[in-house]
Amino acid sequence: MTSPEKMRVVVLISGSGSNLQALIDAMQAGDLPIELAAVISNRPGVLGLERASKANIPTAVLDHKGFTERESFDHALIQKIDSYQPALVVLAGFMRILTPEFTQHYLGRMLNIHPSLLPKYQGLHTHQRALDAGESRHGVTVHFVTAELDGGPSVIQASVPILANDDASSLAKRVQRQEHVIYPLAVKWFALGELQMRNGKSVLKGELLPESGYQLHSEEP
Ligand code: GRF
Repeated sequence: MTSPEKMRVVVLISGSGSNLQALIDAMQAGDLPIELAAVISNRPGVLGLERASKANIPTAVLDHKGFTERESFDHALIQKIDSYQPALVVLAGFMRILTPEFTQHYLGRMLNIHPSLLPKYQGLHTHQRALDAGESRHGVTVHFVTAELDGGPSVIQASVPILANDDASSLAKRVQRQEHVIYPLAVKWFALGELQMRNGKSVLKGELLPESGYQLHSEEP
């Protein structure tokens, strides 16, 4: 018997690729039924590209510095991504603001991970901002990507406690451990056909998810 064809996924990165690694690990453990068709970085020489090569995943670099217009970079990126014919695009630390052409092209088939409990703390420096605001909890969200920056419908959130002696780096580490749990899970749901975006909302196993997505709470220090 031949195994059913696995969903083709392209991952976009700009840096260390620890979320990419979590996907590779889940795949190699037999717990994520996808084929990583390619890893594409907008920065040459980053650790995430090495992680991909080690796992025998095709890599490509499309350096944004070679483009004067955001539109022309995104246009070239669409062509590069589509040459691998993915059913899903996964943004994993891809540090670019996306054009409407790009987000529209992959609407309902592109996920992002953002290190905050959205809709709180869109944008950068989320850990420091949560600390400065005196929050008792912080976390991470996987969401579908729409034209609104960090604004598409949430799929899953994991929250962690903020401890008295935390700084941005200790808090980021605690949040990242949860990133590596929820991103493979969200991608798995999508690959199994259990997760869709419908009318601008996330639907899991036929049920509309709450605004903030499926909720996980970790008490791990
Ligand atoms: C993660 O913290 C993610 O939430 C944010 O960028 C970071 C990427 O880290 N979007 P890595 O490259 O996956 O290690």
